[in-house]
Amino acid sequence: MISAKVLPLFLGLFVVATQAQPNKIEYNVIGLLNDTHTMAVMVDNVTYPLSFDQDRTQILHTGKAPVASHGYQYLKINKTSNVTEVEPFLRQPIDKDSVNEFFNRTWNKQSVSEFPIVYEPLKAIHRVKSDLHREGEIPTIHLVANQVDMDKMHNSSSLEDPKVMSKMTYITLNETLSFNEAEISLSGRSSRWMPKLSYNIKLKKKDRLAKFRRLKLRALDTDPSYIREQLAYDVVKSTGLISSEFSFVRVFLNNQELGLFGIIETFKNPWLANSFAKGDKKYKNGYLYQGKFQTAASSAMGHISDLSYHDNITAYADGQYKVKVEADGEEKENYKPLMEFTKFIDTAPTTSGEDSVKAWKKKFDTDSFLRSMALEFLLGYADGYTTMADNYYLYQNLETDTFFYIPSDMDLTFGSTMFKLDDMWSGNYSTYPGMGTRPLMNKMMQVSEFKQTYEGLLLNLTQQIVNPKVMNRRIDQITQLIEQDVAWDSQLPRVGKDIMGEMGSAESAPTSSMEDIMSQLGNTLPPNMDMNVMADFAKRIGANVPFQVAVDGPTGFQSLSGVKEWVQNQTSIP
Ligand SMILES: *[C@@H]1O[C@H](CO)[C@@H](O)[C@H](O)[C@H]1NC(C)=O
Ligand SMILES: *[C@@H]1O[C@H](CO)[C@@H](O)[C@H](O)[C@H]1NC(C)=O
Ligand SMILES: *[C@@H]1O[C@H](CO)[C@@H](O)[C@H](O)[C@H]1NC(C)=O
Ligand SMILES: *[C@@H]1O[C@H](CO)[C@@H](O)[C@H](O)[C@H]1NC(C)=O
Ligand SMILES: *[C@@H]1O[C@H](CO)[C@@H](O)[C@H](O)[C@H]1NC(C)=O
Ligand SMILES: *[C@@H]1O[C@H](CO)[C@@H](O)[C@H](O)[C@H]1NC(C)=O
Ligand SMILES: *[C@@H]1O[C@H](CO)[C@@H](O)[C@H](O)[C@H]1NC(C)=O
Ligand SMILES: *[C@@H]1O[C@H](CO)[C@@H](O)[C@H](O)[C@H]1NC(C)=O
Ligand SMILES: *[C@@H]1O[C@H](CO)[C@@H](O)[C@H](O)[C@H]1NC(C)=O
Ligand SMILES: *[C@@H]1O[C@H](CO)[C@@H](O)[C@H](O)[C@H]1NC(C)=O
Ligand SMILES: *[C@@H]1O[C@H](CO)[C@@H](O)[C@H](O)[C@H]1NC(C)=O
Repeated sequence: MISAKVLPLFLGLFVVATQAQPNKIEYNVIGLLNDTHTMAVMVDNVTYPLSFDQDRTQILHTGKAPVASHGYQYLKINKTSNVTEVEPFLRQPIDKDSVNEFFNRTWNKQSVSEFPIVYEPLKAIHRVKSDLHREGEIPTIHLVANQVDMDKMHNSSSLEDPKVMSKMTYITLNETLSFNEAEISLSGRSSRWMPKLSYNIKLKKKDRLAKFRRLKLRALDTDPSYIREQLAYDVVKSTGLISSEFSFVRVFLNNQELGLFGIIETFKNPWLANSFAKGDKKYKNGYLYQGKFQTAASSAMGHISDLSYHDNITAYADGQYKVKVEADGEEKENYKPLMEFTKFIDTAPTTSGEDSVKAWKKKFDTDSFLRSMALEFLLGYADGYTTMADNYYLYQNLETDTFFYIPSDMDLTFGSTMFKLDDMWSGNYSTYPGMGTRPLMNKMMQVSEFKQTYEGLLLNLTQQIVNPKVMNRRIDQITQLIEQDVAWDSQLPRVGKDIMGEMGSAESAPTSSMEDIMSQLGNTLPPNMDMNVMADFAKRIGANVPFQVAVDGPTGFQSLSGVKEWVQNQTSIP
């Protein structure tokens, strides 16, 4: 026992000690508030106010408070009523400044294992190092823009393409970056017919976010599992191909929570330099052509982007292809290199033997294509080259003087489809929708060396990556990573017009929706598309397939298998 004489002295020292060492740390939390509310942190049941820096961003709330002995929670306080919304869990005490935490998320970073590298990147690929796609984290993006203009954009038809300037703030665990004059526009074609919209973001000419200037925020709205694009881009990378990479972000627009999105890179400069020359500013790129299936104009001419040869260069410019990026210093609308390449395909040797293989390799990075085709089948691209002559790029690589195949847009994969699943996962690639109808694949499959390579790829990729034993671990970890955000996202109000949902619920499709769709695509659908599955697809857009059911399957919809169900079925190839 401390004697009465010593006690005051002891207490005195204690007071001095706490004054000299206030033991206060900084708490940081991301959360969107209206000016009706403020943010605070409650440390061991005592509330301390947090504030934001008006000149920086309104979504990051910061303040000093003591180190907790039991724990802490963030809370939102209604300024007029003092009613609080407290996080329903206790955060463990920390003794250093917090990272940028997120309101009502129980974690900041998770450990997620990556897929194995099955093939090293093809020789032509030299991808820049970038922090854009952070494993195990979900950064936040806040767009501040004129709300009236944004409302107009959200209500626009596919014929218009409004653009709105914004200030974009990007926040990771330890960084806050701001970009003025970040241009927002709606992204995609069919994705505009969904209730949740996807966006393009273009930064100012000199601005870069993790080395990229143009990005897409993907709504993931056709995928109730939310993980298809992540997995598909991951497998593309593990197969030694180049495309965008993928990760998740939380997105806010002004005072509204837009939800959980995917972020990908747009295939426009500096993407080519970043992918083929480690970001070299002096890189001289060739043409980048995009296959877009068809437009109303090309449909009228009977042209799709299947890489058939036309003896008439104007036939390439009907809209089925797009010059995504022009060659350095060259004119924009030039289809000559593409025409020459399709002429090569048309006349290329189909006999087996070294000479044939050499002739092909002189013009084309054949591995970039065969690997991509193997993935179309294994991952079930319902909107790729085989099924729809859609969603790919051909890059004229000037350094190697060959074309390079780039797969893109991987939302309709792993059994999310407009085609009959039984044809897609029969285990026999000959039954795959569209197989045997695309000139480039047909020609190459006639060369026995390429056919062997393709079949070898199917086998090796199945053994080494596209099977439940390898994939389910990451599938489970990604599912866990986004679980709380999916719960948040799925109850948020949407800003889009939901043309797809209108079609799915109406007896006959409303004319305004059909007009919008036909103005984009023309009135011919691919001959092998299954109308029953297509109708089922429209119907399920409005139906809430639960997250875990969408991951595991079966879902009860013909147009949607579970992700794991797909992997299981497609890899039980005899
Ligand atoms: C802010 O207020 C608007 C209008 O009342 C509301 O729609 C919105 O959801 C609120 N945002 C937040 C983050 O509370
Ligand atoms: C905080 O308050 C709760 C409920 O009012 C109480 O159960 C808990 O014991 C308090 N904790 C501390 C550390 O005072
Ligand atoms: C804040 O409290 C006031 C007074 O009770 C109430 O009228 C208002 O709706 C509350 N605001 C929000 C956004 O909940
Ligand atoms: C809310 O709290 C503040 C500060 O403690 C106080 O001044 C105010 O009267 C409270 N308002 C209500 C409606 O309780
Ligand atoms: C926190 O998130 C859960 C769902 O994950 C939700 O039920 C709850 O209402 C949220 N609480 C607050 C205070 O936002
Ligand atoms: C959306 O656009 C349609 C016509 O395109 C118009 O009739 C409607 O009023 C608009 N709605 C809003 C909320 O702007
Ligand atoms: C933030 O953390 C990452 C790794 O987690 C690190 O590479 C980066 O340098 C950090 N940035 C700052 C500003 O501390
Ligand atoms: C060439 O193609 C264009 C566009 O498809 C078409 O309008 C034109 O009639 C074609 N010309 C010839 C000579 O076939
Ligand atoms: C695969 O399907 C094609 C076309 O239906 C058929 O001709 C072929 O015999 C099938 N191959 C096997 C191994 O079943
Ligand atoms: C598949 O794997 C085998 C054994 O490792 C290898 O010999 C073969 O070259 C591979 N084939 C392809 C197309 O990668
Ligand atoms: C696919 O999986 C389902 C169960 O989810 C099963 O009923 C069906 O027979 C499987 N099909 C194939 C081709 O493996």
